[in-house]
Amino acid sequence: MRVTMIGAGYVGLVSGACFADFGHQVTCIDRDKSRVAALARGEIPIFEPGLADLVAANMRQGRLEFAAEISRVKSAEAVFIAVGTPSRRGDGHADLSFVYDAVREIAPHLSANAVVVTKSTVPVGTGDEIENILRERRPDAEIQVVSNPEFLREGAAIQDFKHPDRIVVGTDDPRARTVLAEIYRPLYLNAPPIIYVSRRTAELIKYAANAFLATKITFINEIADLCERVGADVQEVARGMGLDNRIGGKFLHAGPGFGGSCFPKDATALLKTAQDHGVPLRIVETVSAVNDQRKRAMARKVVAALHGSIRGKTIAVLGLTFKPNTDDTRDSPAIPLIVALNDLGATVRAYDPAGMDQAKPQLPAVAYCNSAYSAAEGADAVVIATEWEQFRALDLVRLKSVMAQPVIVDLRNIYRADEMKRAKFRYFAIGRPGVD
Ligand SMILES: NC(=O)c1ccc[n+]([C@@H]2O[C@H](COP(=O)([O-])OP(=O)(O)OC[C@H]3O[C@@H](n4cnc5c(N)ncnc54)[C@H](O)[C@@H]3O)[C@@H](O)[C@H]2O)c1
Repeated sequence: MRVTMIGAGYVGLVSGACFADFGHQVTCIDRDKSRVAALARGEIPIFEPGLADLVAANMRQGRLEFAAEISRVKSAEAVFIAVGTPSRRGDGHADLSFVYDAVREIAPHLSANAVVVTKSTVPVGTGDEIENILRERRPDAEIQVVSNPEFLREGAAIQDFKHPDRIVVGTDDPRARTVLAEIYRPLYLNAPPIIYVSRRTAELIKYAANAFLATKITFINEIADLCERVGADVQEVARGMGLDNRIGGKFLHAGPGFGGSCFPKDATALLKTAQDHGVPLRIVETVSAVNDQRKRAMARKVVAALHGSIRGKTIAVLGLTFKPNTDDTRDSPAIPLIVALNDLGATVRAYDPAGMDQAKPQLPAVAYCNSAYSAAEGADAVVIATEWEQFRALDLVRLKSVMAQPVIVDLRNIYRADEMKRAKFRYFAIGRPGVD
């Protein structure tokens, strides 16, 4: 099958490379010429484990290519739209300008019976609007518009794409269903269910799933706050809850609040859709508000660990990305944390294995270091903001020897209080007893 991806970002590039690996003939088109040139040279613009090898292998075998010219869409049987849908400035609605621009740009070049598939996360009704644009511009054609939301996670994107829990296909058109079934056929060996639903239902499934996961995280975060007050351990509470099959253990890790390129903006966009339709989603509203407050409140934990003031102190922050194994710092909890630490008069030194280039424009006042130990030099406290693998087994003797004071604020609960006690650190965690 000839497949074209519009947008070669996280979703477009990973999906395109995986479709090529299934055996399809894939062209990834991106309007960013420097990105396309880099990809054509085999350089991967994002940090995603395994992606460079997958792209290289499929380019070598002639199944994957990159282009900046939109006209290259012309022979595609299926065209996936995988452009960004960020929060619109000012009102929080999903900004659909990239999606509609892409549709207008591809319209004159599409073959008469192409299937246009929205992989971008878009509000209910966007597929209808795409169909209107295509009808207006291509009255001659029989183009079908399908919603096929993507559920991959950054950091585990290839595994997620190739072993999905489900594939959601939103269309009532039998021909479009056949095309999507053919594209995903190689996955049938792993037997993921394909759910065929209406386009509007598919669009809503994606938002409902993300809002629910965000709710789960926020729920356990609030339970963590209660644990701190009553002397319980949130990790044990989460384990005790999660072993119940009706609940499940995933997304029950207390931390500094959810971030990333999807949950915050998708929760807000879902709220806007609901408001437009006069249906209040009070749970999601609360989740969004609680999470925003939580990210800012994390600085207070550091202040408390340093006895009420951080003015003139040096704080080392380990981790800037919103989670490990990505270079993505969009809406990362580390960003408002560092802004607040700076506002309260602290000097911040930071290290992240992959996200420092992305963080620099947002956090110009930070001293960027080349390792956890160099960030900790002279620090009054080390704050673990992202649970990168390499932060899980720090040499505590070495760490302590370079710090001004042995204080660790572990916002990801990756250490145990007893080992910190042995290493003579003062240790503060989330929803668990520490060492003071
Ligand atoms: N990142 C994730 O983990 C993830 C997971 C599931 C769903 N999504 C959704 O997928 C969509 C894409 O997200 P992303 O993280 O891949 O975005 P991204 O910003 O990484 O990539 C978008 C790409 O589209 C390109 N682009 C924009 N307009 C274009 C046009 N008219 N023609 C060609 N290229 C164009 C941009 O240059 C950019 O490279 C969003 O709706 C997002 O919510 C993302």
